[in-house]
Amino acid sequence: MIEAAGQLLSPPFVDAHFHMDATLSHGLPRVNASGTLLEGIALWGELKPRLTQEALVERALRYCDWAVAKGLLAIRSHVDVRRPVAGCRGAAACARAGEAVPRSAARGLPAGRAAALAQRAGQPEARAGQGVDVVGGIPHFERTSEQGAESVKILCELAAERGLRVDMHCDESDDPASRHIETLAFHTQRLGLHGRVTGSHLTSMHSMDNYYVSKLLPLMREAGVHAVANPLINITLQGRHDGYPKRRGMTRVPELLAAGINVGFGHDCVMDPWYSLGSADMLEVAAMGLHVAQMTSRTQMLQCFEAVTVNGARILGLDEYGLDVGKPADFVLLQASDPIEAIRLRATVLLVVRRGQVLACAAPAQAVMSLPGRPVTVDWRLQR
Ligand code: FE2
Repeated sequence: MIEAAGQLLSPPFVDAHFHMDATLSHGLPRVNASGTLLEGIALWGELKPRLTQEALVERALRYCDWAVAKGLLAIRSHVDVRRPVAGCRGAAACARAGEAVPRSAARGLPAGRAAALAQRAGQPEARAGQGVDVVGGIPHFERTSEQGAESVKILCELAAERGLRVDMHCDESDDPASRHIETLAFHTQRLGLHGRVTGSHLTSMHSMDNYYVSKLLPLMREAGVHAVANPLINITLQGRHDGYPKRRGMTRVPELLAAGINVGFGHDCVMDPWYSLGSADMLEVAAMGLHVAQMTSRTQMLQCFEAVTVNGARILGLDEYGLDVGKPADFVLLQASDPIEAIRLRATVLLVVRRGQVLACAAPAQAVMSLPGRPVTVDWRLQR
């Protein structure tokens, strides 16, 4: 028997975009002094030769503990599969972390989905079947835009051939000429991959010409391409070359939603070479997305909650997700009256249940007061 009166019952949080192989490595071997994407990439290059599979698995498991305690029970992790070093294969290690957790009934599992993050087309081929069930790529990091377009073609064909999903880091740039999302939508349509393909980041759309975007959005809708924005990371990494005014960089979330395109929010990074903050709290992600996109109407604030729950589940293809009769008993109980209050308060996750089993619980957040004539306790909820 669970007493839930007055609290918000929600399906678990879903993170549609994360990097499990890099998480909790902050400070190894040094911190990112500039905070830029490029120094983060250089730092990751310094860190990779020092990684061991055991340390990577341990950090991933520790992050899963944080995630479970926050009610985050499904994560799509991108994994760097370029050039394994020191005997450490990121994909295999993340798969091992994913496998290890469910065997321990006490810990529960963020249902992992790994996307092979390959620069230079074709490399994910070697990883499919090693815990990788999504084909990734970074077309805008290829040497020319033609090579980027070719990588999108090859990787989509690989996914079609293997019956896999696709999720690419796509156009994570302030360059409005970075238009690989157009190519991704084209090949999704051509190969009949509707509903199985995701464009992650899409930050160049922030800077694109409005007329071009008016052509692009219907193409994405027609192809059934999902979009992922990563608000915490986009707002800190994009616009770094700007003076003032300084671009926000996050993709056009309200416009994508209005065009009928499914949009999820991802955490992307927590305490790694690119981002030194974060705590697996998808309500923090939703709150940042809401602010950056100025999604302040009630409808839009609810959409931000959906971006870290049901929309992410659609991206990951979680068929059993939701609170409907007949679905598995997976849910979280939040100290909030509704999703908007949950975002406003970054609500305490009171209870986390997976397959009917309690995985985590927490005491309600409140302060004890000593002010004459005022209430003894405060919990920041608006009493009506
Ligand atoms: Fe990413």
